[in-house]
Amino acid sequence: MAVVGIDFGTLHSKIGVARNRGIDIIVNEVSNRATPSLVAFGPKQRAIGEPAKTQETSNFRNTIGSLKRLIGRTISDPEIEIEKKYLNAKLVDVAGTVGAEVSYLGEKQTFSATQLVGMYFGKLRDITSNELKVPVTDLVIAVPGWYTDIQRRAILDAAAVAGLNVPRLINDSTAVALGYGITKSDLPEPENPRNIMFVDVGHSSMSVAVVAFSKGQLHVKSTAYDRHLGGRDIDYALLRHFAAEFKTKYKIDVLSSPKAMFRLAVGCEKLKKILSANMEAPLNVESIMNDIDASSKLSREQYEELIDDVLSRIATPLQQALADSGLTIDQIEAIELVGGTTRIPAVRSRIQAALGGKPLSTTLNQEEAIARGTTFACAFLSPTFRVRDFVIHDITHYPIKVRWEQSPADADEDTELVVFPTGNGIPSTKILTFYRKEPFDIEAEYADPSGLPGGINPWIARFTAKNVPTDPNGDLTCVKLKTRLNLHGIMSFETAYVEEVEEREEAPMEVDGEAAPPKKKRHVKKVEVPFVTYNSSLDRSIVEKFKEQEAQMHATDKLVMDTEDRKNALEEYVYDTRGKLDDRYASYVQSSEKQKLLGMLQEAEDWLYSEEGEDATKSAYVGKLDALKVVGDPIVFRFRESEERVKAIAQLRQSLNEYLSQATSSDDKYAHIDEKDKQNVVEKCATIQKWLDDQIARQAERPKNVDPVLTSADITKKRDEIIYFAVPILTKPKPKPVKVDPTPTGTPNGTQTPQSGTQTPDPGARKAEEEIPAPPEMDVD
Ligand SMILES: Nc1ncnc2c1ncn2[C@@H]1O[C@H](COP(=O)(O)OP(=O)(O)OP(=O)(O)O)[C@@H](O)[C@H]1O
Ligand SMILES: [Mg+2]
Repeated sequence: MAVVGIDFGTLHSKIGVARNRGIDIIVNEVSNRATPSLVAFGPKQRAIGEPAKTQETSNFRNTIGSLKRLIGRTISDPEIEIEKKYLNAKLVDVAGTVGAEVSYLGEKQTFSATQLVGMYFGKLRDITSNELKVPVTDLVIAVPGWYTDIQRRAILDAAAVAGLNVPRLINDSTAVALGYGITKSDLPEPENPRNIMFVDVGHSSMSVAVVAFSKGQLHVKSTAYDRHLGGRDIDYALLRHFAAEFKTKYKIDVLSSPKAMFRLAVGCEKLKKILSANMEAPLNVESIMNDIDASSKLSREQYEELIDDVLSRIATPLQQALADSGLTIDQIEAIELVGGTTRIPAVRSRIQAALGGKPLSTTLNQEEAIARGTTFACAFLSPTFRVRDFVIHDITHYPIKVRWEQSPADADEDTELVVFPTGNGIPSTKILTFYRKEPFDIEAEYADPSGLPGGINPWIARFTAKNVPTDPNGDLTCVKLKTRLNLHGIMSFETAYVEEVEEREEAPMEVDGEAAPPKKKRHVKKVEVPFVTYNSSLDRSIVEKFKEQEAQMHATDKLVMDTEDRKNALEEYVYDTRGKLDDRYASYVQSSEKQKLLGMLQEAEDWLYSEEGEDATKSAYVGKLDALKVVGDPIVFRFRESEERVKAIAQLRQSLNEYLSQATSSDDKYAHIDEKDKQNVVEKCATIQKWLDDQIARQAERPKNVDPVLTSADITKKRDEIIYFAVPILTKPKPKPVKVDPTPTGTPNGTQTPQSGTQTPDPGARKAEEEIPAPPEMDVD
């Protein structure tokens, strides 16, 4: 099992893998360490990640970003309105969840956010498999700590759509903390932990976590978030500023044109990054709209003023997290920054100001800390890697309660209970007790809906016990219900049971010859209570349907890519061969052949640029190329052979010389070998030598532009022949001087026959096979 961790970001995602005794962040198909979190649709195929980014400007209505902000939401969620500011695709309702309407394969189609994320995860899976050269089936994904049950379940569903199993969803600040803690060998005892505050300001959201580290463990003490504070809010403030400026300067209304807005937003992000390191930055947007090239500039001072609204919100989550941790700022040993937006000097100074001026640290890799920590989390769960023990005590951010109808038999019974309060450990199991006679329902939901993101439904799950066993005494039955907040931060009803107590008499024991009085012992037997449970995960049948659709779309994409590839191959062959016919192939082609091939190449070229050839099937391109090769290959073969033959002749001559000199050597090394055997080697060498000289002479008489009579393959075959013949004779081991315990049956004694002429027997191979390597220990420092 490959060990893989994903930082699923709003703008980009990063993939970590465990290898080379450590963790690597891998690169995608264009060698970038971050893959754009984008999915796009076209007339023939989808484009996901980098290709989606490349075509974004020309296809922005069918390009969907903000994937992690959409999943698990409904179209009516007020926060989806906010997302629309950053999205150009049309958002629609898809079976009760938010989705996008796009033009795909020439038709209007809709996909739910879960499907879109599934597509994206599929791309990350392919990037990883491609890099590791093994299929990837399991990976750990980092999600914001503010994700609710429904969002977490939707992420797992999306992964399932991509055929992926997720052994754990990890809160992203916790992943950062894990990556931090596991590398520290000097952590204190638990009585006196080291408290660190982690601050992540990314593209769309800000997370703060206070974490206590001690030997071999971390405890998340508190978390706080601003779900709408990130780089994109800064880009947007800039965009509004320049849109207003361009209204007067160029008389254009950028905000009225999605395309112009998109172009300006790209320029603003660039400008923002320059301003992180410079006091002033230019803005240039070519052909923003109406063929106008817009330009402007901004000073650091103006910039900080413009984004003051965003900056002023930074203090709240920091102070909240500190207060909830129960610590003072002096008890925090370091403030570690991650996330692209913490590169902005004004963001840093606001963080520092909110925390009493304490210096900030950037000891972690700001871009990759989440992916690294997430990969460590995956390594813990993998049998193939040994990692230094490190225990993660994470907490839930939102309180969860269960609710039920009052039992008719008990007017004083409460009707709800907070089972997992804020700060409850993850994972955690709690047993609830109910006294019932009738079937009953229990609902699990978030206890404080006002604290949840946007319009997220607080409902989590329902439990229905259909059949409550009757109590033998006619009393209410005591039903125990096991609830669990699992490693993903997802709550579920696990089991329900009734405890039956049996008193069994145990056989009396004789003590000092006297029979002791019989003892009664209580035995508790758990009897399962049948129940059904509902939650917001997709029905298995729907997941299967999406999975099938996904596989189909994946196959279509692959076919389109393969077709494009074959088309390019045909095009390349046409130009390449035509050029070479006058150049390096010139002496290897007869004039009639040349005329024929040139004609065919021209025909293929004309076809490629015809309507038919522009958009043909894979097999049509393959067919055309194959037909050209039938004529072209013999010419290429003659040319290649003229070079290969020389090399093969030299190799054969070298082998012949080597064996000949060994067979005729007076060296003591060969003294034990039978003279007759040595003579056979000499004769064999002479025969082959003669064959070679004859063949070379025959070949020399032929013109270059006809098929050769002597090929490099013939020569290599002869070389194999002499190797097979000579090596066993010339490597025959010397008899041992002292004979100890002779083996009765003649097992082959060390004479090795090489598998093929190019392979030399390796005495070390057997040993390596016998040693079963222990799983590699990961180097965490
Ligand atoms: N040098 C820089 N100066 C200013 N901003 C920067 C710089 N480098 C990156 N950014 C910004 O950081 C943001 C991306 O950060 P990051 O990769 O942490 O976000 P993400 O993980 O995709 O988003 P999120 O964590 O919110 O889901 C972008 O808004 C980008 O413009
Ligand atoms: Mg992030």
